[in-house]
Amino acid sequence: MTKKILVLPGDGIGPEIVGQATRVLDALIADHGLDMAYESALVGGSSFDEHGVPLTDEVLEQARQADSVLLGAVGGPKWEQYEIAVRPEKALLKLRSELKLFGNLRPAILYPQLASASSLKPELVSGLDVLIVRELTGGIYFGQPRGIRTNNNGEREGFNTYIYSESEIERIAHVAFRAAMLRGKRLCSVDKANVLEVTELWREVMTRVGKEYPDVELTHMYVDNAAMQLVRAPKQFDVMVTGNMFGDILSDCAAMLTGSIGMLPSASLDANGKGMYEPIHGSAPDIAGQNKANPLATILSVSMMLRHSFGEEALADKIENAVSTVLDQGYRTGDIYTDGMKLVSTSEMGDAVLAALK
Ligand code: NAI
Ligand code: MG
Repeated sequence: MTKKILVLPGDGIGPEIVGQATRVLDALIADHGLDMAYESALVGGSSFDEHGVPLTDEVLEQARQADSVLLGAVGGPKWEQYEIAVRPEKALLKLRSELKLFGNLRPAILYPQLASASSLKPELVSGLDVLIVRELTGGIYFGQPRGIRTNNNGEREGFNTYIYSESEIERIAHVAFRAAMLRGKRLCSVDKANVLEVTELWREVMTRVGKEYPDVELTHMYVDNAAMQLVRAPKQFDVMVTGNMFGDILSDCAAMLTGSIGMLPSASLDANGKGMYEPIHGSAPDIAGQNKANPLATILSVSMMLRHSFGEEALADKIENAVSTVLDQGYRTGDIYTDGMKLVSTSEMGDAVLAALK
């Protein structure tokens, strides 16, 4: 059966970077006879402009039917005037929750060629390879009740609910332990168990699930310390697992240690390996439409897709090697440019990756 991929370019630089990623996909399909096909649809602000909603039922259904989804980015200043419920970003949250993509894998890998782009000293980051596993469909981003209301004193108050069930913690624990088994076998669970009951339960469940993975060394860290340790000595970590909000913050922090948000892919997986793959950055309105954006995070997202959803390990490696090759050759988009390198556009970076794939 032909594997179906739904491609959702989105807004801002989304179409530009996804355009390069689909060129890579086209090349792999043609050169390796992959039985895969993709179709594209509107999401985010571009969907809102056309249909009045950031995600139509039809596109959600297409995403359900697909074996995998490749997404660019959504959002931009044009849509900030609208209420949160219809903002482009809502499409992402809906896709994640409707497709039950609870396991978010966010690798932060420093390419040695980009060591000078990191915000930390080279000796602190050279060889950095951390995987952050973030719970994506629960926690405070989804908890009910939520809202803004007027309290008994007539004052407005905003409120959200931070809640995790045991089964939600268990399933993300298994994702993290399995990932750790394939890597350095060290897992650090990040919580705030000294203050928040929900993470007291988190810690208890992590410890219990850990008994099923005796080869993995499990440690626990409070989130404030974890943030500090990530910028102090990031190489101490192998795999980190945490809830939705802490994971959002810590993974952006880890990302920056690698020099550019334009280099980092992500995978969001359901219980059966179906996934949505996207760069971790947003729609970069400041450089949209200028053929300047770095397409490598999106191209590496295709690599993660081939690895995690389709079991095509060799082809995933091939893409990663091609990215390494173009960096060796000195090709740099503006975000990773340093003196003496070759400044290239989005599409020229795509050309270079295609050439390196041959
Ligand atoms: P952003 O990630 O879009 O941009 C932050 C900075 O990084 C900008 O200076 C941008 O030019 C640069 N940048 C990002 N990706 C790049 C790339 N591939 N190549 C070169 N430079 C790149 O974050 P920002 O500015 O906070 O958000 C812009 C819009 O994107 C907002 O509407 C936000 O809600 C949305 N957003 C969407 C996300 C998604 O679709 N997954 C994630 C984060 C933000
Ligand atoms: Mg974020």
